[in-house]
Amino acid sequence: MNAMAKPPVASQDFVSAMGLAATGVSVVTTDGPAGRFGLTVSAVSSVSADPPLVLICINRKSPALSALDVNGTFAVSLLGVENRAYAETFSGRPREGKPFDFDNHDWREGDTGLPLVTDATAIFECETHESLDAGTHRIFIGRVIAAHKGDAEPLVYCNRAFRRITAHEGN
Ligand SMILES: Cc1cc2nc3c(=O)[nH]c(=O)nc-3n(C[C@H](O)[C@H](O)[C@H](O)COP(=O)(O)O)c2cc1C
Repeated sequence: MNAMAKPPVASQDFVSAMGLAATGVSVVTTDGPAGRFGLTVSAVSSVSADPPLVLICINRKSPALSALDVNGTFAVSLLGVENRAYAETFSGRPREGKPFDFDNHDWREGDTGLPLVTDATAIFECETHESLDAGTHRIFIGRVIAAHKGDAEPLVYCNRAFRRITAHEGN
């Protein structure tokens, strides 16, 4: 580390400020030799259009991590407002049924054979292009094999609550 580098902000101060960022809510699914796993993820970003790449950040303590590593394939389903229960199941806090249980919900099969959320806002099916560790998380960059558009209104997460978008009065 640079001897002149300033110490980082306390992680609770980082987390409470970052909690004010409004994000979409996705369920990342993977399937293959290491089994089927799903996880609710807000850390999703477009990286590049040509080639088409997206990234997801996954806590290295997550049980989904080794499955993502071994399977080498994942899908990102951007949830709609009607899909909130998927977000609750795959963050381990379902109102009904067991945490992380695929049987709680309806799925459709993607071009890659991965389970996709039915009636999602948009879905990206990926093959892992690269992964790298950063702090507590692993960044998976996926090469997008298939992209699907839905017509669901996007679900948003901000300040520890699920929300929906309303149009700005200037529009
Ligand atoms: C709205 C929301 C967004 C989340 N985003 C991420 C994320 O980007 N990456 C991640 O690894 N976990 C994320 N999580 C956490 C996981 O979905 C899951 O809750 C956690 O791994 C379960 O372990 P815990 O109960 O030990 O916290 C998010 C959870 C929620 C509710």
